Amino acid sequence: MHSFPLARPPFVVVEGLDGAGTTTQSRLLLGRLEREGQPAILTREPSDGPIGVLIRQMLSMRVVLPLAEGGVGPIGRETLALMFAADRLDHIDAEIRPALAAGRLVISDRYVPSSLIYQGDVDGSEAMDYSWVQTINERALVPDVTFFLEASTELCLSRLDQRARRDIFETREKMARLERRYDEVMDMLASEGQRIVRLDASAPIEALHEQIFAYIATL
Ligand code: TYD
Repeated sequence: MHSFPLARPPFVVVEGLDGAGTTTQSRLLLGRLEREGQPAILTREPSDGPIGVLIRQMLSMRVVLPLAEGGVGPIGRETLALMFAADRLDHIDAEIRPALAAGRLVISDRYVPSSLIYQGDVDGSEAMDYSWVQTINERALVPDVTFFLEASTELCLSRLDQRARRDIFETREKMARLERRYDEVMDMLASEGQRIVRLDASAPIEALHEQIFAYIATL
């Protein structure tokens, strides 16, 4: 158990399906670290930088693809994959590295795994376009730890129903596929040597928070 502030503050990622609670846990962790005397920032992807803002407009269909037959559709999966990869490198340059260099722990609500899972998912197919998405993300800074909030499709959908809006990813079959992909991708990253901590997202919010905080204190 270290005392805060940590000599070398880590880069921490929180991952999970929409509705798994990544935003709630990221916020709780930030508040706790600040109370414990650890300088920290909370950031997210898509980021709040210019590319991230454009991505959010694409996800909500505020920015669309004009179709040859008339009307509009969502921006293509591969275009979106490149946008997310560009946003990530910009996010690292503009926010993540400067914060770490200034002695602040960085919490990112989503990171590379989200791209592998969401952009690696080929609609209507069991095949996963993993290697290309990995290639376009290979310059991204590797986190010190990734907390994976493991949640079932049922849990996530029941939580999302209580929210006002849904985005283009949130249908039941798609989410069930994404749930499987999360499992595969986290195993894959762990086998590549990344530090992945799996946590049960259905646990009470406070219990989950204590587990995350306790882990950080051992880094
Ligand atoms: P999120 O901020 O979790 O959504 P909200 O603000 O609605 O809680 O992320 C928006 C969506 O972006 C989410 O469905 C996951 C998706 N996403 C990707 O598809 N690829 C990525 O690389 C990232 C970081 C997010």
